[in-house]
Formats: sequence, structure tokens, C-alpha cells
Amino acid sequence: METSSTISITEKDLEIYREKGYWISPKLISDERIEKLRQAHERIWRGEIDGDGYTRNGLVNLPDDPLKLRKLDNGWWINDEIRDIVTDPLIGQLAADLMETDEVRLWHDQVLYKPGLADQVSDIGNVGWHQDFGYWQCSSTTNMVTVWLALQDTDLNNGGMMSIAGSHKWGLIPESNTFFDTNLASLKNRYATEGKEWIEEPCILKAGQASFHHALTFHGSGPNQTNDPRLSVVAHLMSKGTAFRTGVQWHPNVTHLGPRPYDGQLFANDYFPVLYKR
Ligand SMILES: [Fe+2]
Repeated sequence: METSSTISITEKDLEIYREKGYWISPKLISDERIEKLRQAHERIWRGEIDGDGYTRNGLVNLPDDPLKLRKLDNGWWINDEIRDIVTDPLIGQLAADLMETDEVRLWHDQVLYKPGLADQVSDIGNVGWHQDFGYWQCSSTTNMVTVWLALQDTDLNNGGMMSIAGSHKWGLIPESNTFFDTNLASLKNRYATEGKEWIEEPCILKAGQASFHHALTFHGSGPNQTNDPRLSVVAHLMSKGTAFRTGVQWHPNVTHLGPRPYDGQLFANDYFPVLYKR
């Protein structure tokens, strides 16, 4: 493993995560590994597949408009570098310490590529303010964490993520599954209601740094106003004992539990690999 084991979660880090709902890591991976992951991106978007794997939908589909966000879920099924990073034991250990759990499994990953708009003015590549748990209500717990790893220096100029500090304390907001709504202003109007302090904080990351955010923390991202695409890899991770909660909301992961999933069934099979176990 190329990652350094000297990185760990301190009491102060945990305090920040509890207070803000997210934590920014130091640089987790080497420049060489960053470059390999950038090449992995290119291979994925060219439709190259490692091994005999397949994607959930059979093919890697590029968006109809080249300025739209490219997003592939479960990139680890078809790409070795993506598999290695989203199941990385150090990332697992950091997530375990933040979630205060003894075991961390992968819920699913996302390979995200936000094209550069250069001089064009458009919200086409935006990611709407949303709560990840807005999509994950089939899970028995909100104690899940998203790791957003930057593959180049990332800030608001190239469409980096922003988080709403403290919003994980608001609980689940109805219909907050608004990733694909690119109108950040109207979503803000909808979510920043009375009694909720809307504190937008940019996640400014050097290449190889990651943001770890709670499943209820609101986040989104604006336009990439540079000439270069903004590449990232996201690992959505579960705490120990995360199980299927039936009758609330469907999610593709439920299909990975078998033909007759049942309430309380653990998301704990080969589709949900272990990153870390104490
Ligand atoms: Fe998200």
C-alpha cells in the first residue's frame, strides 16, 4: 500500500466532524497514484474494462452533452485502480474512527468528471445541494460517510464541492435527493428555511486530499470555470451492522441482497467489500 499509516483521526478531528459534519484529510495518496487514478478515469470514459467485470447498466455511457457531469457508480466493478482506492484500508480506518465503528464496508463508489466550461456561463455541470441519505433511506442507519477524493488541486474555480457546516444535525430533510437539480440558488431557498443556519464552506483540496462528510451533511458544487476537467473519486462507506430497512425507499443496492431481500438483512456480501475491520 502506498498510503502512509501515520495519518490518523485525532480527538480534534473527531470534534470537527461532529460539529461541522465533515472533515478534510491530509494528502492520502502519492502523486504517482493520483496520476494512475487520472489515467483510470480516461480508461473508464473510453469504455475500457478491467477483467470480466461489468457495470450496472452494461455500458459506460457518456452524457448527451459534453459539458454535463460524467458519473459512473460502482467504478470498482470495472477498474482496478478505482477498486484499490475505494477499498483502501487507510481510508477505511479513517472512516471507522469518524463513524466510531469497528468495521467499514463500501456502500458504492462514484467516479466523477466535471468538464471545464472555460468562458461559457452554464450551470449544466453543477451538482445540486443534497443529502446523500436522501437516496439511502433503505439503510438502517445514517451513520455513513462519503469520502470525496480530489485528483487535482480543487477549489471553487474548478467546481469543487461545498458543504453546509452543521447541516447533518438537521436530520433527514424530505426529498433532499436533489443531486441532479443544477439550480443551486433555488435549492438553497428551499433548504435554508427558518431556524437553519446556512453556512457554505468550500472544500479546498490539494490533489490527493479528501473530504469525509456525514450522510446527512448538505453538499453541492458549482461550475468548473477552468479549461481542464475536474476529476474525483468518491467512496460511500457504511458503519458496522448497516442493514436493509424495508418499505421506505428503493435503491439499486437492494438488488444486491438477493431476490427476496428482508428487513434487517445486512449489506454484507461481495457487493459491499470490507475496507477495514478492528
Ligand atoms: Fe453527494
